[in-house]
Amino acid sequence: MVAAVPTILGVWKPRLPAALWWDHNAHYHPWLLRRLPARSHRALDVGCGAGALARRLAARADRVDAVDAAPVMIERARAASGPTTAVRWLVGDVLADDLPLQAGAYDVVTAVASLHHMPLRPALSRLADLVRPGGTLAVVGLYRQTTLADRAVEVLALPANAAVGAVHLSRGRGRLADEDMPVQDATTTLADLRAAAADVVPGARLRRRLFWRYTLVWRRPAA
Ligand SMILES: C[S@@+](CC[C@H](N)C(=O)[O-])C[C@H]1O[C@@H](n2cnc3c(N)ncnc32)[C@H](O)[C@@H]1O
Repeated sequence: MVAAVPTILGVWKPRLPAALWWDHNAHYHPWLLRRLPARSHRALDVGCGAGALARRLAARADRVDAVDAAPVMIERARAASGPTTAVRWLVGDVLADDLPLQAGAYDVVTAVASLHHMPLRPALSRLADLVRPGGTLAVVGLYRQTTLADRAVEVLALPANAAVGAVHLSRGRGRLADEDMPVQDATTTLADLRAAAADVVPGARLRRRLFWRYTLVWRRPAA
């Protein structure tokens, strides 16, 4: 069995043994959690997929809402979570106004690999609106590689990807994402993201990460 990795240098889509493949999104969960307060009252994970991050947030927040537009993913998340997990699982589009999400109510809003499924500026604006004054928005996202710097990072990422995969394999825990999870290629570049962030969430810190991801952290100014 082989797994496809993202297209390298815009033309070459290498194939790696699936055993060396792993979940790039979950890889950034520890990083993301370190950006958040140790304890918070309310947290929201947007595009929660099978719910791994929401379960981690539940260990540090009194109440967690986790929303995903795909009913199958919310079913997976519920099934993986057990009855005592303090997460309210919600099926729906975070951009629609029929979900019980209260603007300005969340100490923490997270979105991992989901922002690129939505129109960038409206989605960034919606996520920012949901954060309470003084709260934190933390995003791990995908971007479209277009520049020389993007290509250079991809060249570094490929051997590093295999090395991390080998470590997972040696520990007996290869971690691929759920096969039913909706995925799509990113259409927005880092430049698009920086411009949108400057307008919508001024002061946000946006960084390119090694494994085909960027991170964005924004603290909403206290009222
Ligand atoms: C690539 S998956 C990532 C899932 C999860 N965050 C993870 O890291 O494993 C993107 C998820 O975002 C969800 N999604 C896409 N658009 C959405 C929207 N408008 N509202 C809520 N969820 C959405 C998809 O259904 C999908 O489960």
